[in-house]
Amino acid sequence: VGEIINLADFEERARQTLDPAAWAYLEGGASDEITLRANEEAFRRRRFRPRVLRDVSSCDLSTTLLGQAARMPVGIAPTAHHGLFHPECELGAARAAAAAGVPFTASTNSSLSLEAIAAAGGDRWFQLYAQRDRAVTESLVKRAEASGYRALVVTLDTAGQGRRERDMRMRDVMPQTTQGNDATGGNSLEAVAPFLSWRDIDWLRDLTPLPLVLKGIMTPEDAALAVEHGAAAVWVSNHGGRQLDRSLATIDVLEDVAAAAGGKAEVYVDGGVRRGGDVAVALALGARAVFVGRPVLYALAVGGERGVRDALAVIKAELRNTMALLGIRAIGEIARDCVL
Ligand SMILES: Cc1cc2nc3c(=O)[nH]c(=O)nc-3n(C[C@H](O)[C@H](O)[C@H](O)COP(=O)(O)O)c2cc1C
Repeated sequence: VGEIINLADFEERARQTLDPAAWAYLEGGASDEITLRANEEAFRRRRFRPRVLRDVSSCDLSTTLLGQAARMPVGIAPTAHHGLFHPECELGAARAAAAAGVPFTASTNSSLSLEAIAAAGGDRWFQLYAQRDRAVTESLVKRAEASGYRALVVTLDTAGQGRRERDMRMRDVMPQTTQGNDATGGNSLEAVAPFLSWRDIDWLRDLTPLPLVLKGIMTPEDAALAVEHGAAAVWVSNHGGRQLDRSLATIDVLEDVAAAAGGKAEVYVDGGVRRGGDVAVALALGARAVFVGRPVLYALAVGGERGVRDALAVIKAELRNTMALLGIRAIGEIARDCVL
């Protein structure tokens, strides 16, 4: 095995490390995996317009997200069951995020409890799968508040379960997972919520002072509704191609969604971010930050906290390099005219 210098190297190493069922769960997308591939391909189609002679001897990558400083415009997307990938579970990735000064989003379906993950410190956000029983949802939200999570990321693209055929074929050998957040000690928390409507967002907004981040917005229509219903941020996502296959690539809808948000909510995007250059593309098209899913899990599988620290350092070095070569000195200078 060669040296690790980019996120694809982590991917290859993780594939060699993990058992086939965990790999299928990590890597797979829904149905024909059209959207899974489209996310990355859409980033690769974009081209830069570099400016020269702009003295880029110091490049500032820092920003703020929901009013708090982040050392770069990159966060960790919520992903379930880290215990499938490394014994440090979510603590490995959360500690790496804290060390890098970027937000970590803990999934409802984490292997560890949200209280245990809180020990990592840093800027932590809680991803909520709203439950049919509102009392259960309420208790998750109150626990997140009590243990210092700073934002509530409500996932909206799970009205059904994506048909992940790699998982279906591995059904019999899939390792048992546990839900660290199930207060009953079982596995009763649901990821799929066909019953949700905008009324539930209003209910959540009244329930908690935490800013609401609505994850899974893919159209300007829904972005406008999100703003109307008091969202602090709109998170463009197709769940990494794991839910509705044939959804558009996230980077291709970003610009219109950002226009609909109209500066009234922050806009984030995830799906297919694999290079620091992808971060610059996303920011040019209207995102305030990007979030990374699978690459964090590759790095966790390869080296636990150390691996995720290294992966975040790779993205940062690539972003810094891209900015210098684009003639950009600060995150706020990344504008629409940077990309075609
Ligand atoms: C293994 C895995 C588990 C995931 N679990 C969750 C989850 O529990 N909640 C959630 O909102 N999104 C979940 N997602 C979606 C991610 O938050 C994110 O939208 C997606 O991974 C981004 O695409 P990328 O993997 O290409 O970076 C998961 C994704 C993967 C790959």
